[in-house]
Amino acid sequence: MTELMKLKIEELEKRNDAALAGGGTDKITKHKSGGRLTARERVDVLLDPGSFIEMDRFVTHRCVNFGMEKSKPLGDGIVTGYGRINGKLIYVSSQDFTVTGGSMSRTQANKICKVMDLALKNGAPFISINDSGGARIQEGIESLGGYADIFTRNVLSSGVIPQITAIMGPCAGGAVYSPSITDFVFMVENTSYMFVTGPDVIKAVTHEEVTKEELGGASTHSQKSGVAHFTAKDDKHCLLLIRELMNFLPTNNLDDTLTLASKDNPDRLTEKINSIIPDSPKKPYDMLQVISEAVDEGYFLEVHKNFAGNIIVGFARFNGRPVGIVANQPQVLAGCLNIEASRKAARFIRFCDAFNIPIVSFVDVPGFLPGKDQEWNGIITHGAKLLYAYAEATVPKVTLITRKAYGGAYIVMGSKLLRSDVNLAYPTAEIAVMGAEGAVNIIQRDAIAKAKDPSAERAKLTGEYEQMFSNPYVSAELGYTDEVIEPAMTRKRIIDSLEMLRNKRDVNPPKKHGNIPL
Ligand code: HXC
Repeated sequence: MTELMKLKIEELEKRNDAALAGGGTDKITKHKSGGRLTARERVDVLLDPGSFIEMDRFVTHRCVNFGMEKSKPLGDGIVTGYGRINGKLIYVSSQDFTVTGGSMSRTQANKICKVMDLALKNGAPFISINDSGGARIQEGIESLGGYADIFTRNVLSSGVIPQITAIMGPCAGGAVYSPSITDFVFMVENTSYMFVTGPDVIKAVTHEEVTKEELGGASTHSQKSGVAHFTAKDDKHCLLLIRELMNFLPTNNLDDTLTLASKDNPDRLTEKINSIIPDSPKKPYDMLQVISEAVDEGYFLEVHKNFAGNIIVGFARFNGRPVGIVANQPQVLAGCLNIEASRKAARFIRFCDAFNIPIVSFVDVPGFLPGKDQEWNGIITHGAKLLYAYAEATVPKVTLITRKAYGGAYIVMGSKLLRSDVNLAYPTAEIAVMGAEGAVNIIQRDAIAKAKDPSAERAKLTGEYEQMFSNPYVSAELGYTDEVIEPAMTRKRIIDSLEMLRNKRDVNPPKKHGNIPL
């Protein structure tokens, strides 16, 4: 090596060391004392070992306000680049809280936009790890411009590449809107929070007292608002969970190469389901048990686990092929659809449709949840979202009715009447306009009132109605149900259906975009 080359390499090494030092030992020690990993450690856990290639390591901010020109940390509080998850290309950004609180400067935004542009052009997912005090206060509006550029890219990338956000520290003000546009939001318990206005502003304006955790911690957003799709107990758990999710996702909206070899026999009979569905239609059961019996190796990655428990959504595989599962949960609110459940499932279905992931629905739905609260808060609009999402989706759609499928909720939940491809039903299915007792109370009101023993008359008429309508056969006679199957055939028939639909091609009429009832 020449003397000059040696000097040049030494200088490069010095610069690399300065960039890798982040905010320095003291700040890193303080940061890690809260149980958090550094920005670089997070990238290392997220990506396949040794696969990360950093870009823009030497970028510095250009701010000259408040003496900022005296401190120009290399990288400007964010690590960006690309790497692999299980061999597949991923673009990533990871804010470094130890450098000016990870705050968003114009140059930090430029770094993020650079990898977002590459992700979109190259059709690979973008993962954003957020840990930031928000807009770099010293820069003011330039920083806001940076946020706007990120939001625009989030919107343009939506439906083209999967976008994931991990909230691993503060995320406040307008900064929350990039995560909320992305497809899946992960939060870490006790160390992350998201809110538009913090506790101090709330106290000043509404006089309400609330802690950061209560206002916008992981449990709040996973249970109450539904902003967070996944929560993790710590940083490492969160990053490994993202890797798990990525296994189910294609790299972009044109990629349909996602079948993995499955060790689970596609012809396996699912006899256990025979004893999961109770004899009494009034008794609840756990739909998760039905799902795990049916899918490959019983492996189901539930999304939005703690939000709107009356509907289940998540990913699984049938004969190695990823599917999105949507299912009513009779254990919660008897599986009724309400505002939260409709929003939750509609967004999930639209994600699956955008990324060519078939949708398998398990239906046991007595109807929409009645109540003033539901009506006043717009169940009409929100319920329509679910209907819209199912009807608009052009991916293979297979629906199995296990028990109740009543009224409008029957239509909405992936029925044949909304362009679903295959509708299956168990012999226990009750596909009707409404439950027998409710129906009799309306159409036989006079007969019941005139009877000597009204309650005996009601019971008799209810029995007759049940006999006539509370079964899958009326629907099968009309061709609304393609096949009535024994529960033991669940797995096999879903796989047969997905295989039959493998080359499905369906398009919606040309338009700029539809007008989903938002
Ligand atoms: C510049 C910031 C900063 C910011 C933190 N820092 N936030 N610098 N701009 N927004 C700096 C601190 O000055 C400090 O620098 C270092 O980061 C660590 O911050 P601490 O306060 O010591 O950390 P901690 O006690 O953990 O508190 C974290 C925090 C707090 C709660 C996030 O820093 C905070 O409240 N920051 C301001 C939050 C905020 O109001 N942001 C602007 C929101 S408006 P030193 O040098 O001392 O280590 C916004 C609009 C976005 O974001 C709109 C998008 C459309």
